[in-house]
This record gives sequence, C-alpha cells and structure tokens, in this order.
Amino acid sequence: MSITYAVSNQKGGCGKTSLTLNLGAALARMGFKVCLCDVDPQANMTMALGYPQPDELPVTLPHIMQDIITSGGRTETSGLLQKREYILSSQGMDFVPSSIELTGIENILINTMSRENVLKKFISYIKDGYDYILLDCMPSLNFVTINALNAADRVLIPMQPQFFSAKGLELLLSTIANVRENLNPELTIEGALITMFDGRLNFHREVLDIVTGAYGEYFRIFETKIPVSVRVTETQAQGRSIFDHDPRGKIAQAYAAFGKELIANG
Ligand SMILES: Nc1ncnc2c1ncn2[C@@H]1O[C@H](COP(=O)(O)OP(=O)(O)O)[C@@H](O)[C@H]1O
Ligand SMILES: [Mg+2]
Repeated sequence: MSITYAVSNQKGGCGKTSLTLNLGAALARMGFKVCLCDVDPQANMTMALGYPQPDELPVTLPHIMQDIITSGGRTETSGLLQKREYILSSQGMDFVPSSIELTGIENILINTMSRENVLKKFISYIKDGYDYILLDCMPSLNFVTINALNAADRVLIPMQPQFFSAKGLELLLSTIANVRENLNPELTIEGALITMFDGRLNFHREVLDIVTGAYGEYFRIFETKIPVSVRVTETQAQGRSIFDHDPRGKIAQAYAAFGKELIANG
C-alpha cells in the first residue's frame, strides 16, 4: 500500500523542506520506494536535489497541473502524464520538481471545475509505483495547498520550538478539519515533529511542554526531535543527502530514528 504525506505548516522556515528531503532519504535507505513532490513555487527542494535552476526545467509540477486542467481532469488524455519525463531521480529517490510557475496555477484553479482535485488526480496516477509519496507544501494555505491536503492520506506538521502564535496553528488545524469535512474524510494528522531543537535550552523544553499540553490530545508529538545543526543548511546548499554528507552526525541519526518511529506506527 502506498501512503501519501503532506508536509504542511503555513509558517515559513519551520523545516518543511528539510523534513521532506531527509525523511524521504531515510525511508529510501530503509529500502522503500519513495517519491518526493515539490509543491512550493520557491522550489527549494528541487534545488536541494541538485537542480539549481528549476525554472529552466522542461516539465515541472505546474505544467502537469495545467495539463490535467486542460484535459478536463481526465488523466488518460493528458499528453504530459504519459511521457513521465516529469519524474527525476536524485539521492536514491524519485521526485517531481517545482518552479515559479506554480504561483500562476493558484489563479487558474479559482476558475477550474473540481479545483481541489487536480493534484489528487496526479498523485493517484503515479502512486502505485511507490511506498511513500511526500508532498513539500508551500508556506500558505491557498488552493494549491488545499490540493496537497486533498491528495494526501496523512499530514506531518514540522514545528520550531518558538513561542509561536497559537493562531497560526489553529488556522492550519481548522484548514485540515475543513478538508476532512468537505473533501477528504480519510485525512489524518500523523503528528508534529519538533525541528531545530536544542534540549539544553530551558526555553525549548518549556515550549515543548506547552505544545504537548495544548495539542497532545489532538495529535501526536513525535518522540524524535530534530536537533539544530548547520549541517542541514550545508547539505541543502550542496545538493547532497545528509546521509552522504555526514552519515554519523546527529541530523542523519535523528532522521533515521524519525523514519523508524514513523513506520512503527503503521
Ligand atoms: N535542524 C536544523 N538545524 C539548523 N537549520 C535548519 C534545520 N532544519 C532546517 N534548517 C534551516 O532552516 C531554514 C528553513 O528550513 P526549511 O526546511 O527550508 O523550512 P521551510 O521549508 O518550512 O521553509 C533552511 O535554511 C534550513 O537549511
Ligand atoms: Mg520549504
């Protein structure tokens, strides 16, 4: 069975792209077939996977979505889908790149029939080939992100230990609840992963207690915490996997542990 995760939090810089990349690499090392999908026009994940000029790629996610829209949602008549040239490969995983043109898809979706289903059609088309598909969402709860939540089976929420605005998290949770109510009744929140954690800081431990107290009954806060380390930024800049760059380091170990914790849950 294939499971699709949306990695989502509308807060920028909380670790969505790092989580998607490193969890994907951890799962691939465990022998699973993994496909990452970049659902952010900033295309940071595409760049980190070794494509520094995403806007020059011939086929990226917005082209696929546009083609599905033009085909009236019938994936069997979408010429682009049949060619499969949109699936690239890097670090032991397949991935679907993004580009700045995804920004324009937002406006096109507004006037599209069944506008919430475009990405779901695409994921349904490719998912049989994979054990896990991970969707790296953008920092906005717009139609493109609703498409990702509708296409997913489960949501992973990366969270930085900050005295964050509870309003931001409430908005994400209510969006997920709306998607579940109106579009995707099977959608579940798999849990929240604390990123950039420094256990020596009282402040970080305090935030963890607050988040657990306030939200622990609504979703799981994973045991694994991702420590803060410059290695994360280094590997992304170099287009290398953390498991190649610093295999014994604390980040590689934390993501390997997180992969195990995630799949232990089923
Ligand atoms: N565990 C970490 N330790 C230190 N820096 C990190 C860590 N995780 C992510 N970063 C850095 O923080 C920035 C934001 O992370 P990113 O994964 O791109 O977040 P998002 O996709 O939510 O915007 C990036 O520069 C990234 O390299
Ligand atoms: Mg990102």
